Amino acid sequence: MLAYTDAVAKATAPFYQKVSRAIPALEWPFHAPYVDAINRLKKEKNAVILAHNYQTPEIYHCVADFVGDSLQLSAEAARTKASIIVMAGVVFMAETAKLLNPDKMVLIPDLQAGCSLAASITGADVRLMREKYPGVPVATYVNSTAEVKAESDICITSSNAVRVVESLGSDRVICLPDEYLANYIAKNTKVKIITWKGHCEVHERFTAKEIRDYRTSFPGAVVLAHPECPPEVLSEADFVGSTSAMSRYVSEKKPKRVVMITECSMSDNVAIENPDVEFVRPCNLCPHMKRITLPKILESLEKEQFKVDIPAEIAARARLAVERMLAVKK
Ligand code: 13P
Ligand code: SF4
Repeated sequence: MLAYTDAVAKATAPFYQKVSRAIPALEWPFHAPYVDAINRLKKEKNAVILAHNYQTPEIYHCVADFVGDSLQLSAEAARTKASIIVMAGVVFMAETAKLLNPDKMVLIPDLQAGCSLAASITGADVRLMREKYPGVPVATYVNSTAEVKAESDICITSSNAVRVVESLGSDRVICLPDEYLANYIAKNTKVKIITWKGHCEVHERFTAKEIRDYRTSFPGAVVLAHPECPPEVLSEADFVGSTSAMSRYVSEKKPKRVVMITECSMSDNVAIENPDVEFVRPCNLCPHMKRITLPKILESLEKEQFKVDIPAEIAARARLAVERMLAVKK
C-alpha cells in the first residue's frame, strides 16, 4: 500500500472535496496515494483513462479523463490523441477501443473483467443465426467479443439501438446477444426483431415487484431503468435509457427523488453531480466492473499491462461493424 503523506493529502484535496459525499473520510487515505500516482504517471506516459459510468467514484471522479456510456467511450477512443489508452471498464470495451486505435497501446487493468452478455454468444453462433435467417442483417450490441462483432453487419449500443436498427432499411433485423435490449428495440420500432437469449447478470436480477415496493416505500420517486432489464421491469419504469441517458435525465429534470435501476456505482457517481436530488440506491453490483481498482490501474500503467491484441483478420471485420455504427447520423 502506498503512503498517505502530507504532500499527497494536499495534492488530492480537490478530488476528495468532490467525492466526499460518496467516500467516507476514513477510506480516503487508501485511495489518495493511488489517485496522485496515477495522475502523475498518466501525464508522463501521455496516457488517457476512459471510465465507464459503472466505475467506482474514486476512479470515475478522480483519475478518469473521459467518462460515459459504451457509445461515448467508443467515440472518445476514436478521437483520442494519447499514446496509451487505459480502459477502466470491461474487456469488450477495451477491445472496442483497440479496434478503433489499432496502432495505440490499449490496456485493461484486469483480464478477468468479462461480461455475461459477451460470454453468451460465439462467432459460430452468429454464423448459425445467419444460416437460419438468410439475408437478414445482424446488429450486435457492443457488449460482445471482437470475434462476434466480426460476424456482424453493424454494432448497436443502448444509446443508439433503435436508430441504428432502422438505418439498415430492412423489415427484419437480428439483434444479438441481449434478449431484453432486443425486446425493448422491438417495442419502439416497426422493424421485426429476431432475438438471442443473452442477459446481463446485473440487470436481469431486478424484478417488477422490487420497483412497486420502492414506489410504496419512497413516494414520488421517479424510476429510471436500463433497457438490459426484463420487460416487466421496464413496464414499471418512468423512463428507460442508457446509463448516459439516465444521467442526463437527472441533471436536466432534477427530480426530487430518483431510483436508478442499474449498477450500484452509477447512482454514486450521478449523486455526486446532483447534490439536490435524493437517490434511493438499489444495489446490484457488476462483479466484472468491480475488478477494476485504483491499485490495478496504477500497476497497469507502470507495467503496461494487460495489452489488448486482436488478430488482424478478426479486427478488420469487427472494426467495420463498429465504424458503421459510429457513422449512423443522429
Ligand atoms: P451503457 O453504459 O452503454 O448504457 O451500457 C450499460 C452496460 O451494462 C455496460 O456494460
Ligand atoms: Fe456486462 Fe451487465 Fe456487467 Fe455491463 S453490467 S459489463 S452488461 S454483466
